[in-house]
Amino acid sequence: MNFGVVIAPSILAADFARLGDEVAAIDAAGADWIHCDVMDGHFVPNISFGSDVIKAIRPRTAKTFDVHLMIAPADPYLETFANAGADIITVHAEAGPHLDRSLQVIRALGKQAGVSLCPATPEAAIEHVLDRIDLVLVMTVNPGFGGQSFLDSQIEKIRRIRKLIGNRAIRLEVDGGITRDNAAAVAAAGADTLVAGSAVFRGKSSADYAGNIAAIREAAQAGQARR
Ligand code: DX5
Ligand code: ZN
Repeated sequence: MNFGVVIAPSILAADFARLGDEVAAIDAAGADWIHCDVMDGHFVPNISFGSDVIKAIRPRTAKTFDVHLMIAPADPYLETFANAGADIITVHAEAGPHLDRSLQVIRALGKQAGVSLCPATPEAAIEHVLDRIDLVLVMTVNPGFGGQSFLDSQIEKIRRIRKLIGNRAIRLEVDGGITRDNAAAVAAAGADTLVAGSAVFRGKSSADYAGNIAAIREAAQAGQARR
């Protein structure tokens, strides 16, 4: 299925001292979704924020909250994130032994379900859960930190996952090191949903953010047209 391009700024790169205002600023700047990176210092070597922060910023925009859980275990917290205002909840295939069950729980909570794959995880990890997911998130850096460099090794995986998805209504999201310079390449390989942290929150104002989002979107649309 062919979806239009979605740009999902990651608030990990926002000014945390003014987080609510930053969410409002990217909303005004044309963000499609708000990408929330939750890190536990265990599954990934960094700690970011949890469900209370998501709940606090939820009223600042009506846009889709795309919650990326880099936590293990994830299952005990799924309901809390659903109640905090997540629209999409993505768990890592590497985070627990019962991915199929985690995905069932997310959908039973009335939310869209996503699976994320670290760079070293092959696409076969999602082959048998395709009927349970709304989104696949391909990590194009090793998760844990913003501002890292894009891993070219993931382009081929994006291409393979695009094929695996076939006609299903599943979005293919990429996350990590995405810029206006590589957005066309990931979209040409099959990504339709682009997360960007540092490349969006460059500059100070909503006007700067709008220019950054527009540049990534234009490049991605051009890449999608090459598919
Ligand atoms: C990495 C996070 C990403 C990251 C993206 O662990 O999942 O969402 O914040 O940031 P940039 O775009 O700066 O790589
Ligand atoms: Zn993320």
